[in-house]
Amino acid sequence: MNILVTGSNGQLGSEIKDIAIYYPNFKFFFMDLPELDICKSIQLEVFFNDKNINTVINCAAYTAVDQAEEDAEIAEQVNAKGVLNLVNALKKVDGKLIHISTDYVFDGTSFLPYQESDPVSPIGIYGKTKRAGELAVINSDIDSILIRTSWLYSAFGNNFVKTMLKLGYERDELGVIFDQVGTPTNAGDLAKTCLDILLGKNSANISMKGKIYHYSNEGVTSWYDFATAIMEFGSLDCKVRPIETKDYPTPAKRPHYSVLNKSKIKTDFNIEIPYWRDSLDKCIEKLKSK
Ligand SMILES: NC(=O)c1ccc[n+]([C@@H]2O[C@H](COP(=O)([O-])OP(=O)(O)OC[C@H]3O[C@@H](n4cnc5c(N)ncnc54)[C@H](OP(=O)(O)O)[C@@H]3O)[C@@H](O)[C@H]2O)c1
Repeated sequence: MNILVTGSNGQLGSEIKDIAIYYPNFKFFFMDLPELDICKSIQLEVFFNDKNINTVINCAAYTAVDQAEEDAEIAEQVNAKGVLNLVNALKKVDGKLIHISTDYVFDGTSFLPYQESDPVSPIGIYGKTKRAGELAVINSDIDSILIRTSWLYSAFGNNFVKTMLKLGYERDELGVIFDQVGTPTNAGDLAKTCLDILLGKNSANISMKGKIYHYSNEGVTSWYDFATAIMEFGSLDCKVRPIETKDYPTPAKRPHYSVLNKSKIKTDFNIEIPYWRDSLDKCIEKLKSK
């Protein structure tokens, strides 16, 4: 399998790179801007032909949720048109796609963990463009698996965990929102799941035809509780204060509740998903050892 990992310098792409050595049967091509731009269809096709690409894990995305409210066109280009370009390139080689999407396709008005079949209704530009990307995959007839994830963090790249560690080191006290509830995802756990799915580990009979799955770590938390745990595992003395969403206005609205139901991915691929606190602990240990 010749696997192209797009957006490979981002959080998820870097985590895949980090464990690629444990998957010797795969030949990986790790690519990011400016060398490979998923918005450039000709560039993609040339790359596919040169390297005989037959599989893509699409980690490329426009992920700046607030900035997207101003940059709608760029977000649409990357999150929707770029995905369509990948789909079209894969069609020509009869290839497979693992595409990553987001909890932000839901409006957050539920009180029950979202299932794959629940109606979507994104409330911001980022979520809307990611939904358009989902539709490009769903409406194609290529072999594909679409995985929605939430609150992604990693030892690589920029994210909430690294921001909290920095602020916790600099400040004595910090206000963090407690009325948005979801589940963090260690990108390393998701990276392993993507590669195990491609390997057919524990799941040889599952077809990749237009499947949608949800994946996050286990459990439920708020940003406030998440930040408190980050201070705890980071051995930082900073006091975290709960604040309401209305006291921390942002350009983009965010879902108040975006817990994902993961029963389907656990059953189909026979995987155990780590509890969010355990995975957070591991990530912070990894950061400490860097
Ligand atoms: N981060 C989260 O909290 C979160 C939550 C739920 C779902 N997700 C989804 O999970 C996936 C992985 O997210 P992530 O956090 O790993 O993202 P990330 O760290 O922002 O990485 C995305 C990568 O894609 C690159 N990229 C942007 N435009 C591109 C283009 N036109 N062609 C090729 N590469 C391009 C970015 O480069 P530049 O940095 O130079 O722009 C970056 O290296 C995404 O689909 C995201 O929507 C993320």
